[in-house]
Amino acid sequence: MLTVIAINSSHRKKHTHGLIIQIKKILENNNIHVEIINLFDYNIQTCLGCEHCLIKGGCLLKDDTLELMNKMKFADGIILTSPVYLENVSGKLKTFLDKTCSWFHRPEIYGKPVLVVATTKGSGLKFTLQYLKRVVMMWGAFYAGMIGRSIRNIDCEIKQSECDNFIKLLNMEKNNYKPTINNLIYFQVQKVLAYKLAGLDRDYWKEKGWNKEIYYFTCKIGFFKKLVATSFYQFLNKVINS
Ligand SMILES: Cc1cc2nc3c(=O)[nH]c(=O)nc-3n(C[C@H](O)[C@H](O)[C@H](O)COP(=O)(O)O)c2cc1C
Repeated sequence: MLTVIAINSSHRKKHTHGLIIQIKKILENNNIHVEIINLFDYNIQTCLGCEHCLIKGGCLLKDDTLELMNKMKFADGIILTSPVYLENVSGKLKTFLDKTCSWFHRPEIYGKPVLVVATTKGSGLKFTLQYLKRVVMMWGAFYAGMIGRSIRNIDCEIKQSECDNFIKLLNMEKNNYKPTINNLIYFQVQKVLAYKLAGLDRDYWKEKGWNKEIYYFTCKIGFFKKLVATSFYQFLNKVINS
């Protein structure tokens, strides 16, 4: 059975949690198991900014971050959620996201479908969902859609159609994926950075065999997208050299 983890980053089990419960029901009707994780049950300490994770690998802080990152790695998909706080994600979620910085350089959940969800009183919903989408892309994961509600329309029930793409990607063989131009662009940026900037990243990318690739795994990439990705890589490679 496919397993998804849903991360609730509100301290309460109210609006955001309510949406997770609705999505859980829809997914369970599609034979997908959902484990809800309340981020506040986890001890996530603030990033020290030492860059140890980037330069040497691993975090100096002994908290629950690694446990949670491992849960994400072993899940088939992820639902990343947040209440809107000051036009963006909750502080607790941002603290956790900062700790996943190494995944931008050395992607570990590439190709994993992620659905992003947010609730608000009125403002910042679009920005917050877009921000979460950006994080998903930076991880090299597969953005599977967004669901947002303001408390004015919180009773507007989530429809199966809002989860369809997520369900489709969860059930799809990876070699049938069709990466977007954005997916390919993020890959090229990561590749150039890995080869130009940091030794640990370069070794990781070589070990994965990504030096010769235009995406993390073999999948359906049309001629035009291949051309754009290759040209963009060549351009970036030159610019960063000079
Ligand atoms: C610290 C804080 C900051 C908030 N900032 C905003 C905001 O910028 N814009 C907005 O419309 N609502 C804001 N809200 C309201 C929440 O986004 C909204 O009530 C949300 O649905 C709460 O989710 P929850 O019930 O899962 O905790 C804020 C609430 C809190 C507690």
